[in-house]
Amino acid sequence: MSALKVCVLAGDGVGPEITAEAVKVLKAVCAVRKHELVLTEGLIGGAAVDAEGIPLSPATVEKCRAAGAVLLGAVGGPQYDSLPSNLRPEAGLLSIRTKLGLFANLRPAKIFSVLKETSPLKNSIIDNGVDILVVRELTGGIYFGEKGTTEVDGEPSAYDVMMYSEYEVERIAKVAFEAARKRNHKVTCVDKANVLESSKLWRRVVTRVADNYPEVELCYMYVDNAAMQLLRNPSQFDVLLTENMFGDILSDEASMLVGSIGMLPSASTGHGTLGLYEPIHGSAPDIAGQGIVNPLATILSVAMMLRYSFGMEDEASAVEKAAEESLNYGRTPDLANPAYSSKSTAEIGDFVTARVSEILK
Ligand code: IPM
Ligand code: MG
Repeated sequence: MSALKVCVLAGDGVGPEITAEAVKVLKAVCAVRKHELVLTEGLIGGAAVDAEGIPLSPATVEKCRAAGAVLLGAVGGPQYDSLPSNLRPEAGLLSIRTKLGLFANLRPAKIFSVLKETSPLKNSIIDNGVDILVVRELTGGIYFGEKGTTEVDGEPSAYDVMMYSEYEVERIAKVAFEAARKRNHKVTCVDKANVLESSKLWRRVVTRVADNYPEVELCYMYVDNAAMQLLRNPSQFDVLLTENMFGDILSDEASMLVGSIGMLPSASTGHGTLGLYEPIHGSAPDIAGQGIVNPLATILSVAMMLRYSFGMEDEASAVEKAAEESLNYGRTPDLANPAYSSKSTAEIGDFVTARVSEILK
């Protein structure tokens, strides 16, 4: 097999700490399985603003395009809050997603049984299992619609337009149905079709796409109800298909079902095999540099990378198994539980690295 080319964009806050652990794991996988690994690095977010004056330079985009996959840490920090929108670290993240055409964001929320006690939800609610795949549209909607400030009747005002074309909805709907086919055969289309025109279009298109997948059940749910149902009865969901902003919000909510936002990986994909892999959590500036951030969301993102960009299912499963086992070895403070010893970011990374090598030998 040809070399695995991975471009690492560590970003800000805890970004460098979590990507360092994920890279350790990736190196171990490649060493044991004798795959050549070619790593490159690029700047994004605040780190790029500091060094280059902009949150995403053409050079970084080129490095990503030359790679088979991108591993991203996180972007943002309070020191950048007063910058104009186009220079904020977040603009770099939004821009790399569009520049690479990554319209489909897959965010699995699956509870590991050893974490049941850590979930803030009662056992009676999660006992039936939590295994949800949020399929979030990533390059359209209100994030990318026309926006601006204006004056209405002398009042300073602002607006953000949520617009979707049928094509944008169709391609993400296909991703959701294809995923459901390999899972539990159910898609819940989450929208606000009782109020929003864009949601009515979503329903129309999703209903049409569903005709090609008779073996997949399609349900519709308003987003406010979905936010409530996720806490009331999460096991009713299989694939949750939704637009950009609703997906951003609901995936953070879903992360709490499994115990900590420090556990949720994500994969962003488009039409090709180039994918971008990142934890769903942010740069957590409040805990950066202390060696206490949970690296598992990023390590699990490496598993998604191996699976989706490099077709290495065996290796991906081994990383997931080792990550799960690390929860018995010890935990970072976000998963604190008196029954388990407290471990640092690097200790968890080292454990997964060693364990994955054993599993793959
Ligand atoms: C995420 C993040 C980003 C988003 C921010 C940092 C722009 O919250 O990946 O979920 O809203 O997409
Ligand atoms: Mg988010």
